[in-house]
Order: sequence, then C-alpha cells, then structure tokens
Amino acid sequence: MAARGGFNTRLGFILASAGSAVGLGNIWKFPFEVGAGGGAAFLVVYLFFAFVLCFPVMTAEIAIGRSTQSSPVTAFKKLGFSKWSGVGYLGLASGLLILSFYNVVAAWSFGYFFEIIQGHFAVGDSFSSYTSNWIKIGAYSIIFIMGTAYIVSRGVSQGIEKAAKIMMPTLILLIFGLIIYALSLPNAFVGIQHYLLPDFSKMTANVVYSALGQAFFSLSLGMGALITFGSYLNKDADVVTSAAIITFTDVFIAFLAGLMMFPFVAYVTEGDLSAMSTISGEEAFIFETLPAVFESLGPNLGVLIGGIFFLLLSFAALTSTISLLEVPTAFLVDEKEINRSKATWSVAAVIFIIGIPSLLGAGASSFFSEFVILPGQSSAISFMSFISMVGGSTFLSVGGFLISIFTAFVWRKQNFSRAINLENPSLISRWLANYVHFAIRYVCPVVLGIISLTTILNNYFGVSFL
Ligand code: PFF
Repeated sequence: MAARGGFNTRLGFILASAGSAVGLGNIWKFPFEVGAGGGAAFLVVYLFFAFVLCFPVMTAEIAIGRSTQSSPVTAFKKLGFSKWSGVGYLGLASGLLILSFYNVVAAWSFGYFFEIIQGHFAVGDSFSSYTSNWIKIGAYSIIFIMGTAYIVSRGVSQGIEKAAKIMMPTLILLIFGLIIYALSLPNAFVGIQHYLLPDFSKMTANVVYSALGQAFFSLSLGMGALITFGSYLNKDADVVTSAAIITFTDVFIAFLAGLMMFPFVAYVTEGDLSAMSTISGEEAFIFETLPAVFESLGPNLGVLIGGIFFLLLSFAALTSTISLLEVPTAFLVDEKEINRSKATWSVAAVIFIIGIPSLLGAGASSFFSEFVILPGQSSAISFMSFISMVGGSTFLSVGGFLISIFTAFVWRKQNFSRAINLENPSLISRWLANYVHFAIRYVCPVVLGIISLTTILNNYFGVSFL
C-alpha cells in the first residue's frame, strides 16, 4: 500500500477537522438563516441538532476512520462489510459534486479579496456582472483549486496539518477583529438584537428543516470527510472529546460570524432591519452591499476592512476545499495505490472540469443559469443550485443516515465502543460516549431517515409536508 502519512498531533487533527467544518456555510449562510429563522429561536434548534444529532454521527465517522486507518471505501471493506463500501462511493460522489461548485463560490470570494486590495470596490456593475465574467472567475477558480491541490499534495502532516495550524488561528483573529470593528458602527446593537432576540412566530417547519440541513453541511458530515481525517489519527487519541470540540468550534464560529455580519446589515439599513428583505439574498449582500459599505469607509480603511473580510472568507473556504479534495485523493491512494501527488493533481483537474457548468451557470450561459424547473417550483434553478441540492443536501443526509445505521446495527456496540475508547476513558468522555451510543441507535437513524426521505420527496417530486 502507498504511504498514507498521518497527523503529528491531536491538535493538528482537531484544527484540520474544524477547518473542514468552518467554511462558507458558517460565515455566509448561517447568520442569514438565523436572522430569517427567528434569531435565538433558530439558534436553539440549531444547537439542538448540532449536539444531539450531528455530534454522534461525527463521532461514528471519526471512529470508523481511526479504527481502519483507511478512507471510506476501503474502511467499510476492512471492517468486513464490503457491501457497505457503497456508502463510501456515495461520499466520494458527494465530495466531487460539492467541491465542483464550492470551488466556484470560493473563487468569487478570493477574487473579491484580490480586487479590493487593489482598491476596486465596485468589482462589476453588479454581482451578476461579476459572476458572469467566466474568464475572470475561471482564472480565480483555477488559482483556488491549484492552491488547494498544492496543500493536499504535500501530505497530511506537511500540507493539511501545517496549513490548518496557520489558517485556523488567523481566521479566529480576523473574525474577532472584524466583530470589534463592526460593533463600533452606528446601529450595531440594533443588528445584534435582530440577530439574537427570539421570534417564535418565524419558527415554521421549514425553518426547523433547514436548520438540520445547515448543521449537517456545516459540520462536513455524511460524506466521509471525517472518516478520512479520522484515518490519519493516532490509535490512542480520544475520539469522542475530539468530536465534541470540533462540533463546538464550528457552532461557535458560525455564531461569531453573525455577531460580525448583523452590525454591518444594521449599518447599511440604518437600523431598519425590516429593509433587509430589500437586500435580495445573501449573495447580493456579501458581494454588492458589503463592498459598498467598505468603500464608504474611505480608501485606506475600506481596503483594510474589506480586505480582511474577503481574506477571512477565502481562508474559511480553503480549509474546507482541502478536506473535500482529500476524500477522493485518499481513495485513489488507498484503493488504487496511486501516489499522493499524482492523485491530488488529477482529481483537482477533474473537479475543475466538472465545475465548468457551475462556473457558466452564474450568468454566462443561460442554459446552465436556468438549468431545471423542479416539480412543485415555478422558476428554474441554476446548475450550481441543482448540484448543491443533489450533492450537498440529498447525498449528505442519505449518507449520514446510512452511516448511523451501519454503526448501530451492522458494526455494533462492542466494536464501536472499542473504537471510541469506552474501556479507558476520562469521566467526561465516558459520559459523552454513553450518550453517543444511545443517540446513534435510537435518535439518529429515525430522524435522519425521516429527513432523507422528506428531502427527496420534497426536492425531486414536489411533495410538500409543510
Ligand atoms: N462544512 C463546509 C462549510 O460549512 O462550508 C462545507 C463542507 C466541507 C461540506 C467539507 C462537506 C465537506 F466534506
């Protein structure tokens, strides 16, 4: 078997996994979902899903990886359940699909960083004129995937771990810096109030539903990214507390992102948060409204604050694209015995190619921009939204469901216990492990089963349960 490498320290593993989890989903999507979903009311539901439902699945993924020292497809085979390697293949497919569009969105963010530090605040006449410039975005996305591939090709400890050790602390510093600045803006506290005051009237079934999808995507679960990272973990590392720390870090950074974003929203709307609906969607806010805010701060401060914001977004995206690229790379290394560097660069090239329709579908090509009208919907969605729905929402929830079924009923209690160190734990990890055992058997399969089924019926057959 080709050499696999591994993390040098448990901290390195935790930072890399938290880096996978903390991504565009946290900084870009989460604050707006909280704002639209009833502030603290949404937050409570989200925390419930993250800790009650997602944390056990994360523990299971890391445990499967660590005890087999293999990436998903090989891991199921090594445990003696070859048929279940289908779950690994499903994860592989989600990874390729997610990375193909995620890289394009990362390229938008990275591109803005590049433009703003040169003093170009109005990057296009509008966001859509920016994204439809496919040559420019294509160039940014080539740079981004090449940066990702360079880090992954250097191996686990020299590439992924080193990058995470630099980027994660920097990311946290940047976010705190921006929060402090944002809180000094006029109307900041009106924004914070809107972000956090609970409004239970907004808690529709749809909101609860999207909280779960968001939590799953945000924690990078359901596609074996954490099986893969877990496979590089030392045999004696404590899996349960590591999973708890990763879950906490992800949720905490998402929460911080809201503390940064809402003061900006309140500043732009002069404290009238009801005007938020006129800021059409998150993308327009991030790429049109925010740059205008940065410009209004004057050339020096604007470049500094705007530069920091888009650097933060690019770093968050990069630590996630690294883990997304690692999944197919590790598959080629483990299953096909291809050398890591060759595997990484070939997968990166394939991803760029599968991402071309997403790149073109943001305005450049009307075919890919209005790709499909789904049953029950009145307007067409873009290729990128379609792929995100298939790879990001459907595959992940089905993958998570299957992983919990596998852990609870196929792999079974004794083996799982051994894999999460239940024999020799600290008090807290024993307590957490007992909870994980209970949830993976009685909570996760039922809830994830229902969610997967309703997602499929709702998304592809237009059957609504609300
Ligand atoms: N967790 C990332 C985010 O919130 O942006 C996205 C992601 C990364 C999903 C890695 C899945 C994955 F394996």
